[in-house]
Amino acid sequence: MSVLVTGGAGYIGSHTVVELLNSGKEVVIVDNFSNSKPQVLEQIRKITGKDFKFYELDYLNKEELEKVFQENDIEAVMNFAGYKAVGESVQKPIEYYTNNISGALVLLDTMRKYNVKKFIFSSSATVYGDPETIPITEECRTGGTTNPYGTSKLFIEQILKDIYNSDNSWDICILRYFNPVGAHESGLIGEEPQGIPNNLMPYIVRVAAGILKELSVFGNDYPTPDGTGVRDYIHVVDLAIGHIKALEKLEKEKQGLYIYNLGTGTGYSVLDMVKAFEKATNKKVAYKIAPRRPGDIATCYADPTKAKEELGWVATRGIEEMCKDSWNYIQLVSGN
Ligand code: UFG
Repeated sequence: MSVLVTGGAGYIGSHTVVELLNSGKEVVIVDNFSNSKPQVLEQIRKITGKDFKFYELDYLNKEELEKVFQENDIEAVMNFAGYKAVGESVQKPIEYYTNNISGALVLLDTMRKYNVKKFIFSSSATVYGDPETIPITEECRTGGTTNPYGTSKLFIEQILKDIYNSDNSWDICILRYFNPVGAHESGLIGEEPQGIPNNLMPYIVRVAAGILKELSVFGNDYPTPDGTGVRDYIHVVDLAIGHIKALEKLEKEKQGLYIYNLGTGTGYSVLDMVKAFEKATNKKVAYKIAPRRPGDIATCYADPTKAKEELGWVATRGIEEMCKDSWNYIQLVSGN
């Protein structure tokens, strides 16, 4: 029995494959390298000393995807094949809805055909929009997303609820990620955004490495302790382990649809992150205060109690490790 991982060469997918292999699972990866590189597969083998099956294909291609289900004994599917750049999604809504929503539908339809009904979905804290209460519990109202990326996550969550209502032999886990950062401690895999990064941590490491000149801090007049935006940064390895715990839950429980926040429960501001990074790496991060970025909210952090109680999962890697591992990875990539 294997776990099928779509987008397994990507940032969160590759770290999750490592944890799956480490936990003794057989893995089949599907990826079209639209936002990842083939070398990642070799790095996963290096880290784990284990092998897996790989198919280079677009998960929208139903015919090719069916072959994967015919040729393997798939027990569960984890879907990391979504597009994830917030700004780009505003420019390319058709591409984002097609890849994220149609892709998920092709995958779910194929799963149904081959009677594979365990599904773990990469959702996002973005489904809470501007959160009604902080810290955010899974019961908080969802909606009010401000870009097609976020809306695609919200729609897929609804699709999954409708599928489960129509046939409760499905076993579905929706994981709402907060802000994933960091890299595997080996430095062999990590986040490699194409072009100039939009997210904070990839930007900070590039400023520290001298690749980018200075960080623009988007707004210092938010109602937060230092005026800059507060987020719940979570180490990608902790996030990956959350998927293993979710899979264990689906394997041992009766069928159901479960939703969990994957965050640490601690919020850090942009300036906290700059200071933490400088302390952890001994590198200077030049920054300037810039206007607010449209669509940003002031504060977003999780109440991760439900994942702790029901999955036995807690994030254990702190801010220093997140910064060190991000730095370690960029140095290897940029050859600094
Ligand atoms: N920020 C800056 N300068 C930058 C980049 C970011 O000041 O160059 C600030 C932002 O304004 C925000 C914080 O850093 O206050 C974090 O911004 P990110 O872009 O790293 O992350 P977001 O919280 O905006 O978005 C992330 C993911 C989304 C996901 C969302 C869920 O990128 O995919 O978390 O809450 F939907």
